[in-house]
Amino acid sequence: MIKYIGSKRVLVPHIVRAMSAFPESGRVLDLFSGTSRVARGLKETGRHVIANDHLAYAATLARCYVQADADRWRDDATRIIAELSTVAPAPGYFTQAFCEDARYFQPKNGARVDAVREEIVRRALPSELEAIVLVSLMEAADRVDSTTGVQMAYLKQWAARASNDLQLRVPAIVPGPGEALHLEAVEAASCVKADVAYIDPPYNQHSYMGNYHIWESLVRWDKPETYGIANKRVQCREYKSDFNSKRRIRQGLRDLFDAIRCKHLLVSFNNEGHVDREEMIALLEEKGHVGVVAVDFKRYVGAQIGIHNPRGEKVGRVSHLRNKEYFFVVSERRDTVESVVRAIESSVDEAALASRAARGKRKNHESKRCAE
Ligand SMILES: C[S@@+](CC[C@H](N)C(=O)[O-])C[C@H]1O[C@@H](n2cnc3c(N)ncnc32)[C@H](O)[C@@H]1O
Repeated sequence: MIKYIGSKRVLVPHIVRAMSAFPESGRVLDLFSGTSRVARGLKETGRHVIANDHLAYAATLARCYVQADADRWRDDATRIIAELSTVAPAPGYFTQAFCEDARYFQPKNGARVDAVREEIVRRALPSELEAIVLVSLMEAADRVDSTTGVQMAYLKQWAARASNDLQLRVPAIVPGPGEALHLEAVEAASCVKADVAYIDPPYNQHSYMGNYHIWESLVRWDKPETYGIANKRVQCREYKSDFNSKRRIRQGLRDLFDAIRCKHLLVSFNNEGHVDREEMIALLEEKGHVGVVAVDFKRYVGAQIGIHNPRGEKVGRVSHLRNKEYFFVVSERRDTVESVVRAIESSVDEAALASRAARGKRKNHESKRCAE
């Protein structure tokens, strides 16, 4: 899976536990699916998942991990990915834009991305198979990039992983049905009925199109004009989500909650977001009873390594390394909210205990090795 700001990788087990505590959760709508980690985790539990995101690369991740049935596509995908791995490098748009004009990848890997992407176009694959192959390419490129996990900038010195050779792997697709949508969240909310809606919107001004413009251009393959040192697609200038705007997010959330046709809601939001806990509760109270659980969460790596000036020197201090992720549970029934809140709390407590035990074991092992 790609590196992604706001990814709920470590929260997936808690989200799965929460879903199981709703009285019905066989059909789940993930309205802001991003990497599809959450949606895939839910599909793995046998639920029917509908994953939506407004960006093309994220909708492609959803088509691969949620919509594509592994039993139908695994063999074809394995064969095609093996064939694509032997295509000869041929520098083109990607190499020029992201390896020469900007330095996100080494040119040897850029030339492979160009060649594989053109071959994918030439093959005109069925949509789900094409999504699996595109995800294989996106994830291969992500493993050899030279960034801190966002494409607002590339590293001054090449990251060590950038000199590895690009290697395509078959994505870990899941058997069974599912659906992927490529819509504005409000539109998806108004046209899909489900038991539970999982809602994980952006929480600050940083747009996902800007942060992951290379994936958007790689998936669309529209070879757009670019601008600035980061060489972003020009579309980044005008395409803004309401959920990235401090001024518009409240109305955006109100419209979204009004449009939703699901019985229960599970909302993820960060304590550093444009909307604080009390405001979110006030917005959600219109929909039913609201319960809140806060989970201590690691900040993304860009914040952990501090603030740097254009010469790559550290100039600022990191204010704090940990932040909180809130889960808001909403249902017309109070007892439902209470049992989902309890389920999340016990899942979080058990994970903390397990990680403390693992740390203790590691320490024990290390002190034994020192003694030897
Ligand atoms: C916090 S991320 C979701 C992360 C995801 N849960 C995961 O674990 O990978 C928010 C997502 O919302 C999407 N998004 C932003 N505005 C949107 C909108 N108006 N409609 C649909 N999706 C939107 C972004 O593209 C981004 O992928």
